[in-house]
Order: sequence, then structure tokens, then C-alpha cells
Amino acid sequence: MSAPVLTRMWGEPESWTLEAYRRHDGYRALAAALAMPPDDVIAAVKDAGLRGRGGAGFPTGVKWGYIPQGDGKPHYLVVNADESEPGTCKDVPLMMANPHELIEGVVIAAYAIRARQAFLYVRGEVVPVLRRVHAAVVEATAAGYLGEDILGSGFSLDVVVHAGAGAYICGEETALLDSLEGRRGQPRLRPPFPATAGLYACPTVVNNVETIASVPAILREGAKWFRSMGTEKSPGFTLYSLSGHVARPGQYEAPLGTTLRELLTRAGGVRDGHRLKFWTPGGSSTPILTGKHLDVPLDYEGVAAAGSMLGTKALQIFDETTCVVRAVLRWSEFYAHESCGKCTPCREGTFWLTRILEELERGTAGADDLDKLLDVCESVAGRSFCALGDAATSPIVSSVAHFRDEYLAHLHVGACPFPPGRSALFA
Ligand code: NAI
Ligand code: SF4
Repeated sequence: MSAPVLTRMWGEPESWTLEAYRRHDGYRALAAALAMPPDDVIAAVKDAGLRGRGGAGFPTGVKWGYIPQGDGKPHYLVVNADESEPGTCKDVPLMMANPHELIEGVVIAAYAIRARQAFLYVRGEVVPVLRRVHAAVVEATAAGYLGEDILGSGFSLDVVVHAGAGAYICGEETALLDSLEGRRGQPRLRPPFPATAGLYACPTVVNNVETIASVPAILREGAKWFRSMGTEKSPGFTLYSLSGHVARPGQYEAPLGTTLRELLTRAGGVRDGHRLKFWTPGGSSTPILTGKHLDVPLDYEGVAAAGSMLGTKALQIFDETTCVVRAVLRWSEFYAHESCGKCTPCREGTFWLTRILEELERGTAGADDLDKLLDVCESVAGRSFCALGDAATSPIVSSVAHFRDEYLAHLHVGACPFPPGRSALFA
């Protein structure tokens, strides 16, 4: 297990202050980056192989390299701090414990892509995060790490902390940009990608909080050091979020490629007296896995080979007392509620998926409703305007694949065989 990087200060008194961050090499990487040509900074991030930690795993340096140079347009950096994937809870603690690591990464990234303006799009309901990040921006500006002529380099950067209004879809990067521009947040057609036409139709990089917060360490320690962790195609360290039926839920920093078995050992295992039934590797948008997948390496390739996606690395753990149909119904209700309504397959499909799942969970569905459920999934996945439609079907299709018998049992019993508070019939 490599030494922690992102979490190295967590738990220290007042870890969020500039003084505490400076004790841990804070802003040392920024001075080094500002002494390099911007293209060399992009090259360093490319060499490290850092992949986006917001879910998609797109190579960060490659994305930065897409920003056209000498185009005469303003460039923007937007940090997606609108974390809202069910089970995903890594960016909030990261910003609460050490907002300066994010701010240092923001200045380095903005310098690399020649942006003079950055936006931090934070979920508006999480007021303590807004306050903490805003206070850190003020502190960093007063210390000369933000604002005019940063560290005497001639590079200037203005940062705006923006409060989102709490819609899941505004985590989708183009909906986020619409929302930032003052419109109702709905996804835009891609291409063009934000790198060519983003905020105010100008070249824009949108990166997740954890991605940007991982940049200072790469500049401090080098690409080779970063690549000494993780796997060849998924290098580096990351935050895995464990929640649900686990003894010690929380954030666990580990190299990419760590297995759930290893993480559960650190987290004290499944709660006392119970055993693993199913889990999500990356939030509810990723197909569920089961106890057979404890040794799957949790990197982009390893999880894909097991039939799922690494996504946000939000490992939601469910033991044998959980009704899989009920869990999937809860997620389905979430997607139906958060569907932005722009396209018919998702708007109508998520409504009908939820209705059918309600009947299935109550045991009042008809004999052909399970097939109907899968039929509707086929009409939504791959036919919706953005990834939310696909995401809504992932837990349904995967749960039927792994637990068809449990769905059928609801039909046979005529009720949910897992009433709350009673142990499972189908463990
Ligand atoms: P994507 O794969 O379409 O794009 C990933 C990034 O690469 C984007 O920034 C996109 O602009 C850029 N990109 C891709 N191809 C490009 C090209 N040819 N030229 C320029 N840029 C290009 O994935 P998407 O739809 O942005 O994100 C989906 C992921 O988001 C899912 O895998 C899911 O895990 C995750 N997610 C995360 C949530 C959270 O709370 N963190 C919430 C919901 C979903
Ligand atoms: Fe909106 Fe859903 Fe269509 Fe995405 S897939 S644009 S969330 S209706």
C-alpha cells in the first residue's frame, strides 16, 4: 500500500487552512509549474497517464491538449464539484479536508490550458463545502496564489465559486455549462465537445474535483512516481468510497487496481454476521456485481472485463438481507425524478421502468412484466440523448442477469419476500 497523497492531511486539526497545506508541500508544485512552459505541464500530466476521476476515465492531459492555442478566444477551466451520483461521496470530504489541494490544481491546470478564468461549480445544498472552498479562495488570493501576477510569474487567474441548484443532470458537463451560463441545465449535443465549444462557446476544460486535486502531486513528484502506482493503463492513486453494509464506511485511498476484497479488509468487512450479496463498483449508474467479483481489480479495464464500469469508484455494499428489486426500484425512482425531460426515451422510459419495478417489488406484477421491464430498458439504453438514460437501465439489466430468481420469487410469493426488519429468504 503506497503512502496516502490526497488524504495525507485528513484528520489533522484545521487541515483546510493554508498554513496546514504549506506544511505538507502546499503550493510547491505551483511554483514549479509556473516556471515551465504550459505545454510542458500538459506533457507531464499526459506522461503520468492521469485519467478523469469523475467517472468516465478520459485521459486528463489529452483533454487539456485539445484546447486550441493562438485562437484568440478566452479559455475556461470549469471544475465539476456537483457530485451527485448515488453512493459517490469523495469530492465533498476532499474539499472539506483540503480545499487548497484543489485550488493549487486549478491554478496549474488553468496555466496549462492558458485560461484566465476558472469556475468551481459546487452543489448549492452542500453549504459547508461552498463556505470552505470560498474561504480557501480568499486565503489563496491574499497569499498571492490566485489573482494578478501569481508568484510574480506574470500569469493571472480569477476564480469564481458558483452554487449549483441541486439537479443531478447538472453534473453532466454540458448541462453544467448551460446552468453556469444562467440557463436551465440540460445536456447539449456533443460534438462539439467543450474543449472546442464550451462555456460561452469558447474552449473549455471541464474536470472533476479529484482529477484536479491529483495534479499538484504529479508536478511535485513526477510522472514516473505516479506511474509506480496502479496499473499500466490506469495509473496512480484514487479515492474509493465504501458505503452501505460495511463495518467502517468511508473514503479509502489506494492505487487503482485494488480489489474490493482488499478494501473490505481495511474497512472491517461486511457488517457483523452478514455476507456480501451485491455491490456497485462506481455508483448506481454502473452494472451491479456480486460476491463472485471480490477479486476484480478496480481499475477501468478490470471492471470492464467483469461486465461493469469503474465509474466514480463508489462501492455501495449490500448484504444478504437486501431485496435487490427494492434497491433497484429506489435507484429507478431517483433517475425518473432526475431525468431532465429533454428526450422521450429517458423521460417516458424512466417513468415506466419505475412503475413496472413498483409492481414487481410488491409482487403484483403480471407474468410478462419482467420481459416488459427489459424491453423498456432496450428502448432507453443507447437511444437517449445523454448518459443518464443508459445509467438508469444499468442496475436493472444487471440485477435481472444476476438475480432473475429473486425477481421471479416476488411474482410467485405475490409479495416482497424481504419485508423490512426480517432476514432474507433468498440469501
Ligand atoms: P464521456 O466519456 O463522454 O466524456 C468524458 C470526458 O472526455 C468529457 O469531458 C468529454 O468532453 C471528453 N471527451 C470525450 N471525447 C472527446 C473528444 N473526442 N474530444 C474532446 N473531448 C472529449 O463521459 P461523460 O458523459 O462526460 O461522463 C459519463 C460518466 O460520468 C459516467 O461514466 C459516470 O460514471 C459519471 N458520472 C459521474 C457522476 C458524479 O457524481 N461524479 C454523476 C453521474 C455520472
Ligand atoms: Fe435529459 Fe434523460 Fe434525455 Fe439526458 S437522457 S437529455 S437526462 S431526458
